Amino acid sequence: MSRALSSADRVKPQSYSSVAAEYYDAERHPTCRNFRDASRSLLRDALCIIPRSGSALEVGAGRALLGELAPKGFDRLILLDKSEEMISYSRGFNQIADLVVGDALSLPFEGNTFSLIVASLADPFNGPRFWNEVRRTLKLGAYCVFTTPSYEWASSFRMRSAYEQQGAAFFQTREGERIYLPSFVEPEASQRKMIESAGLHLLQITSIGTAAIPEPHSPKIRGCESVVSGYIVQRT
Ligand SMILES: C[S@@+](CC[C@H](N)C(=O)[O-])C[C@H]1O[C@@H](n2cnc3c(N)ncnc32)[C@H](O)[C@@H]1O
Repeated sequence: MSRALSSADRVKPQSYSSVAAEYYDAERHPTCRNFRDASRSLLRDALCIIPRSGSALEVGAGRALLGELAPKGFDRLILLDKSEEMISYSRGFNQIADLVVGDALSLPFEGNTFSLIVASLADPFNGPRFWNEVRRTLKLGAYCVFTTPSYEWASSFRMRSAYEQQGAAFFQTREGERIYLPSFVEPEASQRKMIESAGLHLLQITSIGTAAIPEPHSPKIRGCESVVSGYIVQRT
């Protein structure tokens, strides 16, 4: 029998390291698989319209989509994640990329470094500090592609589900442990405001719904018109 969480039940979100061992297990976590497929599709489309040159960074990379898509034209590719366990999924890309353990909220790079920053399913660090770091490290005229579970999905699904809570992604591990991970999903208007407040220009917002995501579908995304949202941002 399910029940809503009371504020007394709310727990402090943990690190992705605590779920890394099974994050990419599609049978155990089909919603993560559906989100990743949607995010890949948004990123692939964005890469068709973004000029390629100079250095590219994927932040919060996990099993990096930039590594998987291996876009041609960049001189250097850096994959960064705060979790050593999550970035280890990108070890297979070490011939084409440098792997870095670091914090999206304090990027270990000089200003004006990148021609492209990719942040796929980047809701764990989606806040003003991250966007200020994007503004600082992007070159003038350069781009950021950011994807996140949609606000429609997060607000409807998380509101009605037992054990879910706003501001967190809920995971139940193989062992039955309940884990909450940080997740900051904003309505489009406040996401736009956050991006623009950092001095960046929002060029495009695109959404992917259930119909465009390869099956099998997690029951958690069924019937949702917008599952993952993609933002293309430019430093102008
Ligand atoms: C939802 S997962 C997405 C992983 C990967 N981008 C993908 O699409 O499969 C979020 C990732 O962000 C990383 N992360 C969370 N907080 C971070 C931070 N402050 N700095 C850098 N990475 C962070 C996590 O370790 C995790 O790998």
